[in-house]
Amino acid sequence: MIRPIAVMGDPILKQIAREVTPEELPSAEIQEIIDDLLHTLKASKTGIGLAAPQISEPLRIVALTDPTMVLVNPVLTPVGSEMDIGIEGCLSVPDLQGEVRRHRTVRVQALTRTGKSIDTIWTKLRATVVQHEVDHLNGILYLERSGYTAAASTQRLADPVPMGAVGHRQTIVVDSETEVGGKCYVNFSFAKRGKVIGLRIEPGGAVVTGAYLSGVRLKAQGYKAGTAEKFLVGTQGLHVATGDQLRVELRIEKGKRRIVAEADVDWAAV
Ligand code: NI
Repeated sequence: MIRPIAVMGDPILKQIAREVTPEELPSAEIQEIIDDLLHTLKASKTGIGLAAPQISEPLRIVALTDPTMVLVNPVLTPVGSEMDIGIEGCLSVPDLQGEVRRHRTVRVQALTRTGKSIDTIWTKLRATVVQHEVDHLNGILYLERSGYTAAASTQRLADPVPMGAVGHRQTIVVDSETEVGGKCYVNFSFAKRGKVIGLRIEPGGAVVTGAYLSGVRLKAQGYKAGTAEKFLVGTQGLHVATGDQLRVELRIEKGKRRIVAEADVDWAAV
């Protein structure tokens, strides 16, 4: 049976799924769930993996395509320290894609649907897919591992400021869960026109790798790339319009950290 796929917001996707016991694995009930998982994955056409919680069964079962395979109670162990950043999507998160950092190579230990042991090493795409699917078993969506989560959680409007106020400072705090080498983003939103005359990002160890104003990448003139202790938005400042969003892309050099980003905005100089 093809089942409906749970989408983001459904509490089933936040649960930690339970293991399937050896006694219940051969049961008609579990085998039917596995059949439904495979049928639903195949019917999705675009999916390359599906986890049982996505069809509302909180069990540690994953289905993969190319080749088709079922993993019961999968356990992953990273092999080596190499990481890859790839673009991921998810049948439970329609219409979105995001960059995610994953282990390049993982050891996969699991049972087949008939209870045979699997112990193998996968790399690159297959490793990425299985890490994505096992995340589902732990209530994690890929978006939570993507820099875009930080951006989404820090979007806010500037405090209302009377026209004529000069040198107002807008501060944003990002609790970065990004690992070393990962990206995170700081987003400033502007409730009215103004001019950004300074930006500071603390502490050090975050390197500015890009800056975008309402989706348009600012040229080198617009920002000073490099260590983010303090960088100015050009010598002329950066004019912003009502509703503009300034997004600063950072690479984390020294571990997980709390990042404080401050923009000095001159609201009068427009
Ligand atoms: Ni998914």
